Amino acid sequence: EVKACLFDLDGVLVDTAKYHYIAWKELANDLGFQFTEQDNERLKGVSRVASLNILLEIGGLSFTEEEKEKLAEKKNNRYVEYISTMDSSEILPGSLDFLKDCRAHGIKVALGSASKNAMMILNNTGLTSYFDAIIDGTHTSVAKPDPEVFLLGAKALETAPEHCVVFEDAEAGIEAAIRAGMVSVGIGSPETLAAANVVIPSLQQMNVARLRESFASV
Ligand code: G6P
Ligand code: MG
Repeated sequence: EVKACLFDLDGVLVDTAKYHYIAWKELANDLGFQFTEQDNERLKGVSRVASLNILLEIGGLSFTEEEKEKLAEKKNNRYVEYISTMDSSEILPGSLDFLKDCRAHGIKVALGSASKNAMMILNNTGLTSYFDAIIDGTHTSVAKPDPEVFLLGAKALETAPEHCVVFEDAEAGIEAAIRAGMVSVGIGSPETLAAANVVIPSLQQMNVARLRESFASV
Protein backbone atom coordinates (compact mmCIF):
# COMPACT_ATOMS: atom_id res chain seq x y z
CA GLU A 1 0.00 0.00 0.00
CA VAL A 2 1.31 3.44 -0.93
CA LYS A 3 1.29 5.54 2.23
CA ALA A 4 3.61 8.44 1.38
CA CYS A 5 4.95 10.39 -1.58
CA LEU A 6 8.39 12.01 -1.45
CA PHE A 7 9.01 14.72 -3.99
CA ASP A 8 12.19 16.11 -5.39
CA LEU A 9 11.75 19.86 -5.96
CA ASP A 10 13.87 21.15 -8.85
CA GLY A 11 12.54 19.79 -12.14
CA VAL A 12 9.69 17.84 -10.55
CA LEU A 13 7.42 20.38 -8.83
CA VAL A 14 8.93 23.61 -10.11
CA ASP A 15 10.71 24.72 -13.23
CA THR A 16 14.01 25.65 -11.56
CA ALA A 17 16.18 23.12 -13.42
CA LYS A 18 16.55 25.70 -16.21
CA TYR A 19 17.87 28.34 -13.77
CA HIS A 20 20.42 25.92 -12.31
CA TYR A 21 21.52 25.15 -15.87
CA ILE A 22 21.82 28.81 -16.90
CA ALA A 23 23.74 29.73 -13.75
CA TRP A 24 26.20 26.81 -14.14
CA LYS A 25 26.59 27.54 -17.86
CA GLU A 26 27.44 31.18 -17.10
CA LEU A 27 30.06 30.06 -14.59
CA ALA A 28 31.58 27.64 -17.12
CA ASN A 29 31.68 30.37 -19.75
CA ASP A 30 33.36 32.75 -17.26
CA LEU A 31 35.99 30.08 -16.77
CA GLY A 32 36.42 29.72 -20.53
CA PHE A 33 34.70 26.48 -21.46
CA GLN A 34 31.40 25.32 -22.94
CA PHE A 35 28.75 23.58 -20.89
CA THR A 36 25.92 21.79 -22.68
CA GLU A 37 22.46 20.67 -21.66
CA GLN A 38 23.73 17.10 -21.88
CA ASP A 39 26.56 17.91 -19.45
CA ASN A 40 23.93 19.43 -17.18
CA GLU A 41 22.11 16.09 -16.79
CA ARG A 42 25.02 14.98 -14.58
CA LEU A 43 24.38 17.88 -12.20
CA LYS A 44 20.67 17.30 -11.66
CA GLY A 45 19.87 16.21 -8.14
CA VAL A 46 23.51 16.58 -7.11
CA SER A 47 24.54 18.98 -4.32
CA ARG A 48 26.08 22.37 -5.06
CA VAL A 49 29.63 21.34 -4.13
CA ALA A 50 29.42 18.03 -5.97
CA SER A 51 27.98 19.84 -9.00
CA LEU A 52 30.90 22.28 -9.06
CA ASN A 53 33.37 19.39 -8.92
CA ILE A 54 31.69 17.72 -11.91
CA LEU A 55 31.61 21.03 -13.80
CA LEU A 56 35.33 21.63 -13.19
CA GLU A 57 36.10 18.07 -14.26
CA ILE A 58 34.25 18.73 -17.54
CA GLY A 59 36.31 21.92 -18.01
CA GLY A 60 39.52 20.13 -17.04
CA LEU A 61 40.27 22.73 -14.38
CA SER A 62 41.34 22.44 -10.76
CA PHE A 63 41.11 24.99 -7.95
CA THR A 64 41.84 25.18 -4.24
CA GLU A 65 39.00 24.58 -1.77
CA GLU A 66 38.92 28.30 -1.03
CA GLU A 67 38.62 29.21 -4.72
CA LYS A 68 35.94 26.58 -5.18
CA GLU A 69 33.92 28.08 -2.35
CA LYS A 70 34.00 31.44 -4.15
CA LEU A 71 32.96 29.84 -7.45
CA ALA A 72 30.05 28.01 -5.81
CA GLU A 73 28.99 31.25 -4.17
CA LYS A 74 29.13 33.08 -7.49
CA LYS A 75 26.89 30.47 -9.10
CA ASN A 76 24.49 30.54 -6.18
CA ASN A 77 24.22 34.33 -6.18
CA ARG A 78 23.18 34.24 -9.82
CA TYR A 79 20.78 31.36 -9.19
CA VAL A 80 19.17 33.14 -6.22
CA GLU A 81 18.68 36.20 -8.42
CA TYR A 82 16.69 34.06 -10.87
CA ILE A 83 14.56 32.33 -8.26
CA SER A 84 13.89 35.41 -6.12
CA THR A 85 11.24 36.58 -8.58
CA MET A 86 9.54 33.19 -8.97
CA ASP A 87 5.83 32.86 -8.36
CA SER A 88 3.13 30.20 -8.64
CA SER A 89 3.23 30.39 -12.46
CA GLU A 90 6.47 28.38 -12.30
CA ILE A 91 4.88 25.38 -10.61
CA LEU A 92 5.10 22.58 -13.18
CA PRO A 93 1.81 21.41 -14.76
CA GLY A 94 -0.02 18.73 -12.78
CA SER A 95 1.96 19.29 -9.56
CA LEU A 96 -0.68 21.14 -7.56
CA ASP A 97 -3.51 18.80 -8.57
CA PHE A 98 -1.46 15.77 -7.62
CA LEU A 99 -0.36 17.23 -4.26
CA LYS A 100 -4.01 18.00 -3.48
CA ASP A 101 -5.08 14.53 -4.61
CA CYS A 102 -2.50 12.94 -2.28
CA ARG A 103 -3.75 14.95 0.68
CA ALA A 104 -7.39 14.19 -0.15
CA HIS A 105 -6.59 10.46 -0.07
CA GLY A 106 -4.61 10.54 3.18
CA ILE A 107 -1.27 9.96 1.48
CA LYS A 108 1.45 11.79 3.36
CA VAL A 109 3.66 14.21 1.46
CA ALA A 110 7.31 15.15 2.01
CA LEU A 111 9.90 17.14 0.16
CA GLY A 112 13.24 15.46 -0.47
CA SER A 113 15.49 18.02 -2.11
CA ALA A 114 19.24 18.57 -2.17
CA SER A 115 18.73 22.31 -2.45
CA LYS A 116 19.65 24.78 0.28
CA ASN A 117 17.32 27.23 -1.47
CA ALA A 118 14.25 24.99 -1.19
CA MET A 119 12.38 27.06 1.42
CA MET A 120 12.68 30.22 -0.67
CA ILE A 121 11.31 28.41 -3.71
CA LEU A 122 8.45 26.78 -1.79
CA ASN A 123 7.49 30.09 -0.18
CA ASN A 124 7.70 32.11 -3.41
CA THR A 125 5.53 29.61 -5.29
CA GLY A 126 3.06 29.08 -2.43
CA LEU A 127 3.77 25.35 -2.12
CA THR A 128 4.94 25.20 1.52
CA SER A 129 1.59 24.29 3.08
CA TYR A 130 1.17 21.14 0.97
CA PHE A 131 3.95 19.30 2.82
CA ASP A 132 3.77 17.26 6.02
CA ALA A 133 7.57 17.27 6.17
CA ILE A 134 10.31 19.19 4.40
CA ILE A 135 13.80 17.76 4.06
CA ASP A 136 16.25 19.86 2.07
CA GLY A 137 19.96 20.49 1.65
CA THR A 138 20.14 22.20 5.03
CA HIS A 139 19.16 18.93 6.76
CA THR A 140 21.40 16.48 4.93
CA SER A 141 25.08 15.66 5.24
CA VAL A 142 25.48 13.58 2.07
CA ALA A 143 24.04 14.22 -1.36
CA LYS A 144 21.99 12.00 -3.67
CA PRO A 145 22.64 9.26 -4.85
CA ASP A 146 23.04 8.65 -1.11
CA PRO A 147 19.56 7.74 0.26
CA GLU A 148 19.85 10.02 3.34
CA VAL A 149 17.40 12.70 2.15
CA PHE A 150 14.62 10.19 1.44
CA LEU A 151 15.25 8.14 4.58
CA LEU A 152 14.97 11.33 6.66
CA GLY A 153 11.72 12.11 4.82
CA ALA A 154 10.24 8.68 5.54
CA LYS A 155 11.26 9.00 9.16
CA ALA A 156 9.66 12.43 9.49
CA LEU A 157 6.45 10.99 8.01
CA GLU A 158 6.72 7.94 10.29
CA THR A 159 6.32 5.71 7.25
CA ALA A 160 8.38 2.64 6.35
CA PRO A 161 10.48 3.06 3.16
CA GLU A 162 8.65 0.22 1.41
CA HIS A 163 5.42 2.25 1.53
CA CYS A 164 7.04 5.37 0.04
CA VAL A 165 7.07 6.48 -3.59
CA VAL A 166 9.78 8.89 -4.76
CA PHE A 167 9.20 11.37 -7.60
CA GLU A 168 12.44 12.39 -9.29
CA ASP A 169 13.75 13.95 -12.51
CA ALA A 170 17.40 13.04 -11.89
CA GLU A 171 19.33 9.84 -12.33
CA ALA A 172 21.08 10.42 -8.98
CA GLY A 173 17.68 10.81 -7.32
CA ILE A 174 16.31 7.54 -8.70
CA GLU A 175 19.44 5.79 -7.46
CA ALA A 176 18.93 7.37 -4.03
CA ALA A 177 15.34 6.05 -3.98
CA ILE A 178 16.49 2.53 -4.87
CA ARG A 179 19.15 2.65 -2.16
CA ALA A 180 16.49 3.85 0.32
CA GLY A 181 14.40 0.77 -0.49
CA MET A 182 11.65 2.86 -2.12
CA VAL A 183 9.87 2.61 -5.46
CA SER A 184 10.13 5.53 -7.83
CA VAL A 185 8.44 7.51 -10.57
CA GLY A 186 10.79 9.21 -13.01
CA ILE A 187 9.66 12.56 -14.40
CA GLY A 188 11.28 13.09 -17.79
CA SER A 189 12.86 10.91 -20.43
CA PRO A 190 12.79 7.09 -20.20
CA GLU A 191 16.40 6.93 -21.47
CA THR A 192 17.86 8.98 -18.60
CA LEU A 193 15.55 7.53 -15.98
CA ALA A 194 15.62 3.87 -17.03
CA ALA A 195 16.16 2.75 -13.41
CA ALA A 196 12.80 4.16 -12.24
CA ASN A 197 9.83 1.79 -11.86
CA VAL A 198 7.61 4.10 -13.92
CA VAL A 199 8.56 7.06 -16.14
CA ILE A 200 6.10 9.79 -17.14
CA PRO A 201 6.73 13.11 -18.94
CA SER A 202 5.18 15.21 -16.13
CA LEU A 203 2.91 15.01 -13.09
CA GLN A 204 0.00 15.77 -15.42
CA GLN A 205 0.00 12.04 -16.14
CA MET A 206 -0.33 11.09 -12.46
CA ASN A 207 -3.13 10.84 -9.91
CA VAL A 208 -3.68 8.71 -6.80
CA ALA A 209 -5.75 6.09 -8.66
CA ARG A 210 -2.93 5.59 -11.19
CA LEU A 211 -0.34 5.61 -8.44
CA ARG A 212 -2.13 2.82 -6.59
CA GLU A 213 -2.55 0.87 -9.81
CA SER A 214 1.16 1.18 -10.66
CA PHE A 215 2.30 0.15 -7.20
CA ALA A 216 -0.40 -2.35 -6.22
CA SER A 217 2.24 -4.67 -4.79
CA VAL A 218 3.92 -2.04 -2.60
C1 G6P B 1 18.82 20.13 -6.66
C2 G6P B 1 19.17 20.38 -8.11
C3 G6P B 1 20.66 20.46 -8.30
C4 G6P B 1 21.28 21.43 -7.30
C5 G6P B 1 20.96 20.99 -5.89
C6 G6P B 1 21.52 21.94 -4.85
O1 G6P B 1 19.00 18.79 -6.38
O2 G6P B 1 18.64 19.38 -8.94
O3 G6P B 1 20.91 20.88 -9.62
O4 G6P B 1 22.66 21.52 -7.48
O5 G6P B 1 19.56 20.91 -5.74
O6 G6P B 1 20.81 23.15 -4.91
P1 G6P B 1 21.24 24.51 -4.24
O7 G6P B 1 20.03 25.38 -4.46
O8 G6P B 1 21.48 24.24 -2.80
O9 G6P B 1 22.46 24.99 -4.93
MG1 MG C 1 15.49 17.45 -9.56
